[in-house]
Amino acid sequence: MKGVILAGGEGTRLKPLTLVTNKHLLPVFDQPMIIHPLQTLKNIDITDICVVTGGEYIADFMRFLGSGSDFGVNFTYKIQDGPKGIAHALLQAEDFFKKHKVVVILGDNIFEKISVPKEVFDNSYAYVFLKEVDEPQRFGVATLDKNGNATHIEEKPKRPKSNYAVTGFYIYPNDVFDFIKSLEPSARGELEITDVNNWYLKQGRLKTIKIDGFWSDAGTFKSLFKTTVFLANKKGFDSK
Ligand code: TTP
Repeated sequence: MKGVILAGGEGTRLKPLTLVTNKHLLPVFDQPMIIHPLQTLKNIDITDICVVTGGEYIADFMRFLGSGSDFGVNFTYKIQDGPKGIAHALLQAEDFFKKHKVVVILGDNIFEKISVPKEVFDNSYAYVFLKEVDEPQRFGVATLDKNGNATHIEEKPKRPKSNYAVTGFYIYPNDVFDFIKSLEPSARGELEITDVNNWYLKQGRLKTIKIDGFWSDAGTFKSLFKTTVFLANKKGFDSK
């Protein structure tokens, strides 16, 4: 099984920390951020891993992560020319996946635990992983029918129709790349992952899996701090 960590983007909300460093190399408690999505992929036995980031930072990632042998994985690196959106970053990994199912994690997403049923890898469905949150308006929000199936996903809605945020972990069939190539940039100039998810949803090919345990992105000062505190507590860190 193969997976990709998307570590491009601009990290605008963490400026000035991200003026000279990529967001995913910033510390989250005692490790650079990217170690956490790497661990999440390893936890589900994915060790063939592509890292996508901007050309200005690729050398930093290669210096830190190397071939992958220190981490028990095998890394492939791809450059995203400019922060043109999550779906655009994913497209850079097309050659890497060949015919495999496409497992995607955003480089700033920290999951306490995630488990993936085996059948997910043997069918032509797309999967999004949902987490119940207090402030859904910050995320893509899934509207669910009474059977728990998603009927719509809305990006950062002012009035969310549920508390289920779409997390930054996705699994797609291989036709995801053809669809991304047909996408037009959104009003903010990006190829949007929500458009990808809604395309599968309209075809009746999107399944949802609810997750438990801590989940956060670490892309704002508040969420970076919250995640750092969570990990410090989990490791029994005593600051006194
Ligand atoms: P975002 O947090 O949406 O964007 P960002 O990282 O550029 O931060 P900001 O909004 O503060 O400017 O991205 C979520 C994840 O998606 C991030 O961890 C990296 C990845 N990503 C890419 O790989 N390429 C991209 O072009 C974008 C926009 C995001």
